[in-house]
Amino acid sequence: MANEANNFQELISHCKEYGYIFQSSEIYDGLAAVYDYGQNGAQLKKNIRDQWWKSMTQLHDNIVGIDAAIFMHPTTWKASGHVDHFSDPMIDNKDSNKRYRVDHLIEGFADEQLAVGNKQLAEDLLASMDALLAANDYAGIKNLIDNNKIKCTISKTCNWTEVREFNLMFSTQIGSITEDSDTIYLRPETAQGIFVNFLNVQKTGRMKIPFGIAQTGKAFRNEIVARQFIFRMREFEQMEMQFFVRPGTQMEWYNFWKAERKKWHESLGIPAEKIRYHDHVKLAHYADAALDIEFEFPFGWKELEGIHSRTDFDLKQHQEFSKKKIQYFDNDLNEDGKPFGNYTPYVVETSVGLDRLFLTIMSLAYTNETWTKEDGTQDSRVVLKIPAKIAPTKLAILPLLKKDGLPEIARELMNDCKPSFHCFYEEKDAIGKRYRRMDAIGTPFCVTIDHQTKEDNTVTIRYRDTMIQERISLSDVKRLVLEKIV
Ligand code: GAP
Repeated sequence: MANEANNFQELISHCKEYGYIFQSSEIYDGLAAVYDYGQNGAQLKKNIRDQWWKSMTQLHDNIVGIDAAIFMHPTTWKASGHVDHFSDPMIDNKDSNKRYRVDHLIEGFADEQLAVGNKQLAEDLLASMDALLAANDYAGIKNLIDNNKIKCTISKTCNWTEVREFNLMFSTQIGSITEDSDTIYLRPETAQGIFVNFLNVQKTGRMKIPFGIAQTGKAFRNEIVARQFIFRMREFEQMEMQFFVRPGTQMEWYNFWKAERKKWHESLGIPAEKIRYHDHVKLAHYADAALDIEFEFPFGWKELEGIHSRTDFDLKQHQEFSKKKIQYFDNDLNEDGKPFGNYTPYVVETSVGLDRLFLTIMSLAYTNETWTKEDGTQDSRVVLKIPAKIAPTKLAILPLLKKDGLPEIARELMNDCKPSFHCFYEEKDAIGKRYRRMDAIGTPFCVTIDHQTKEDNTVTIRYRDTMIQERISLSDVKRLVLEKIV
C-alpha cells in the first residue's frame, strides 16, 4: 500500500512535468479540487472522449448524440429532485472546522485499518455504514464514528457535530443584479439535458424505442472532501447515455448495458481483473436498480462508472413540472395484436466520468522500469504505456543529425503523416535522450532518420513498450502506424 501511495505521488508529479495535468490557477496557489489539462492531457482526454462517442453514436445505430447547455431552467432541478435530494450527509469537526462526507470519513478510516491488517474490522465497519446509510439513520452513523473513535485528519480529535445534509449544487445568478435576477444552477449531471430534449430528439430523429441519447460535457458538484487528485473534482466531465426502453424491459437492458460497458472498458486496455461490479445498497431517489463499475485505483477499488435503471421517474417529473405531455407512441404490436400505444419510456443510464477514466488509463500506463544492460550496469526509464489508439502523440520523427539532408527527409515524412495522426518532430539532443522523453509522454512509435536512409530509404522504428528497434522502409511508416492505432 505504501508503495502504491508513493507510485501515485510519482504519477501526479509526472502528469505535471510532462504537460498532462496542472493545478488550476497554480500561480495563485491553485483552487482545491479543480485541475487544468495541459497539452498532452487535453489530447489524451479528447482521444478517450472520441472513443466513447464513436462507440455510442457510430457503432450503435440506435443511439444519437447531443450537446445541451450547462445552464438550464431552474425548474429542471426542482423536477429532477436535485434541489431537494442532491445532498450528502456531512459531519464537521468542531476543532478544525473541516467538513467531511460521512461515507468518505468512514471509508478513509476503513482503508487505514486495512493497511494495518485489521481486515475484519474494516469490512464490518463498511457493512454497518452501508446499512445505516440505506436506512437514513444519521444518529446511527454518528454513533459509528464516535464508537470507532474516528479522528479528523487535521485536528486529530473526535470532537464532531451531528450529521447533517448539504446540497452539492453550485448556484449563480442569471440576469443583471439591478434587474430581476434568478438563481440558476450549474448542472450536477449532464443527464437532465437529455431528458428535457427527449421529445425534440425522438421526433426530429424519428427514433423508435429502444433508442439512446448520448452526451459528453462538464458537470459541477460542490464536493466537500475533494482529494485523490482528479478522482473527485468540483468541475469534471461526464459521458452519459440515456437508453429509452419499453416499461417492463428495463432489467433486460440494464443487464445488457452492464455487460456492454465492462467490455468497452476492456477494449481500452483495462485488464478484466482490475474491473468489478458493485451493486448499490442505497438506491438514488430515481432508481430501481443501480451498480458501479469499479476500478482498482492506486488508492483502492472505487467507482469509475454508474449504470442506473432510472425507471420513468425523470420524464414523468418533467412532464408534471412543465405541464407538457412527454410520452412515446409505440405502434409495434403486443401479444394481442394491438399497438402498445402511449407510455412514458423507462430509462437505463450509463454514466462514466471522463476524468476518472483518464486517471484509470494513466495509473495503468505509468511504469517505472529498471533492467541490467549487457555490460552489467543498470538502466531505467519511466514510460507511459498508453494504448496506441488513444496516445496523445502517435509518432515521433527524429533525424539523427541536424545536417546532411536528414532534417529534410524527416520533414517530408512529417508532412505526409500529420494529416492522418499526431506526430512530433525533434532534432535536439542525443537519440537516447529523445527516446526517453517520448517514453515519458507515452509516444508509441519513434522513427529515426540516419545516413543509411539516404542510401536505401529505410528508417529505424522503435517500439515504446518493448524498446525493440527494427529497420523498415520509409514508405511503410505511415501504414504501419495507421494499422496500430485503429
Ligand atoms: N447521471 C448519473 C450520475 O451523475 P453519478 O454516479 O453521480 O451518476 C456518474 O456520477 C459518474 O460521474 C461517476 O461514476 C464518476 O465517474 C463521475 N463523477 C461523479 N462525481 C465526480 C467528481 N466529483 N469528480 C469526478 N468525477 C465524478
